[in-house]
Amino acid sequence: MTAAPATLRRPLIAGNWKMNGLKADGLALARDIATRLEGMASRRFDMLVCPPFTLLDAVCAAVDGAPLLLGAQDCHADAKGAHTGDVAAPMLAELGCSHVIVGHSERRTNHGESDATVRAKAAAAQGAGMTAVICIGETEGQRDAGETAAVVRRQLAGSLPAGSSATNTVIAYEPVWAIGTGRTPTPEEAQAIHALIRAELSKPLGAAGSAATRILYGGSMNPKNAAVLLALPDVDGGLIGGASLKAADFLAIGECCR
Ligand code: 13P
Repeated sequence: MTAAPATLRRPLIAGNWKMNGLKADGLALARDIATRLEGMASRRFDMLVCPPFTLLDAVCAAVDGAPLLLGAQDCHADAKGAHTGDVAAPMLAELGCSHVIVGHSERRTNHGESDATVRAKAAAAQGAGMTAVICIGETEGQRDAGETAAVVRRQLAGSLPAGSSATNTVIAYEPVWAIGTGRTPTPEEAQAIHALIRAELSKPLGAAGSAATRILYGGSMNPKNAAVLLALPDVDGGLIGGASLKAADFLAIGECCR
């Protein structure tokens, strides 16, 4: 698929802190990121941090006024009710979140989340006025079996709610075998899957909607490999785990956006 003009999809550099960060460290990290962002004369990317639920309120206050977006790592599909331990999308929106990650492979695996569950969570995030960052990606076994394209197609079709658009949806392609392993797809492999995702997105979103939707790459992205991955025509940013926990590395990834 033809690459869109750069202005159509401003890269999004997103940090998924996962289950990391007690208050002092988490606030220091958020402040460090915000200060570095504010110190940049110009930048070609948007930046998002997704701390654990426990830090969202404090991080929001700590980076108030900085050009840093705040997101959560999950939400419940219902807006309220008897769901002990869960957090509803409107609660996250009220805290200042603009984004919610849904369907991360760690949740699909550890919490048995199906595509239907992910779709319902994404719809809840969108319904609360936020952008759903919908994660998809094949396992190593599926890759070895040559099933990558089929898995990605199936997860995308099953996880994308009706009513999705380029403004309320971001897709994150995260091959499970690349998460936390130091391994990444080759640039050719990454571009091919991202192009496939964009082609699939044109079915529900139309050509213009698909061309305007950001598709992030996630899995062992770091300051050394980011430039090559972020230069791919259908890679519109990154969803970063480990390297997002160091402000210098996280910002260095952002600076790879051209
Ligand atoms: P790593 O960057 O640590 O591989 O994690 C990627 C990820 O799972 C982001 O959601």
